[in-house]
Amino acid sequence: MNEALLQNISVRPLAAGEPVPYELLLDADPSMEAIAKYLPFSEVFIALYAGKVVACFVLYPVDADTLEIKNIAVEESCQGKGIGKLLLREATEIAIKKGMQNIIIGTANSSVGQLYLYQKEGFEISDIRYGFFLQNYPEPFFENGIQCKHMLVLSKKLS
Ligand code: ACO
Repeated sequence: MNEALLQNISVRPLAAGEPVPYELLLDADPSMEAIAKYLPFSEVFIALYAGKVVACFVLYPVDADTLEIKNIAVEESCQGKGIGKLLLREATEIAIKKGMQNIIIGTANSSVGQLYLYQKEGFEISDIRYGFFLQNYPEPFFENGIQCKHMLVLSKKLS
C-alpha cells in the first residue's frame, strides 16, 4: 500500500505564481515571521499525489558548500507512510547535483520523532544552538511534553 503511494509521488520545485503551501510550512515551523525571513532566499519543493500537494520541503543556501533543509512537512493524513524519508533523500540528491559538500537540518530538542528519522537517514548531530527557540519564538511551546528550547543541527557529508 505504502509502496504504491510512494511510487506515485512526484517531487518538483514550486513554479512561479503557484501558491506557497503555508499550511504545511507552518506545521514544521510555527512562526510565520521566521518563515518569511528564509523563504525569499530559498527554493520550495512540493510533493504531489493524485494532483494534490501532500508534502513540501524548503532548501536554503547557507554558503557555497552547504544547503539547509529549513522546513519539511507532510500533510497529517499522509504521515508515517515513508514520504518524509523520500523527501530527505530527494533533498540530498538535489544538494549533490548542485555540487554541495554538506546538507544540514535543524530541529528542536523536543522533536524526538524527527531526531530519530534524521539520524536514521544519515544525518549526525553537529551543533547545538542553545536557547534558539527561547530567543526567536514569542511564546513557549512544547512537544512530547518537553519544552522546545534548543536547536540541534544535524549534518550529512555529501562527498
Ligand atoms: N515520531 C516517531 N517516529 C517518527 C516520527 C515521529 N513524529 N516521524 C517519523 N518517524 C519515523 C517513522 O516511524 C519511520 O520509521 P521507520 O523507517 O523505522 O519505519 C521514519 O521516521 C520515516 O517516517 P516517514 O513516514 O518517512 O515520515 P513522515 O512522512 O511522517 O514525515 C515528518 C516526517 C516530515 C517529520 C512529518 O511527520 C511531519 O510533517 N511532521 C510535522 C511537521 C514537522 O515536524 N516537520 C519537521 C520539523 S523540523 C524542520 O522542518 C527542519
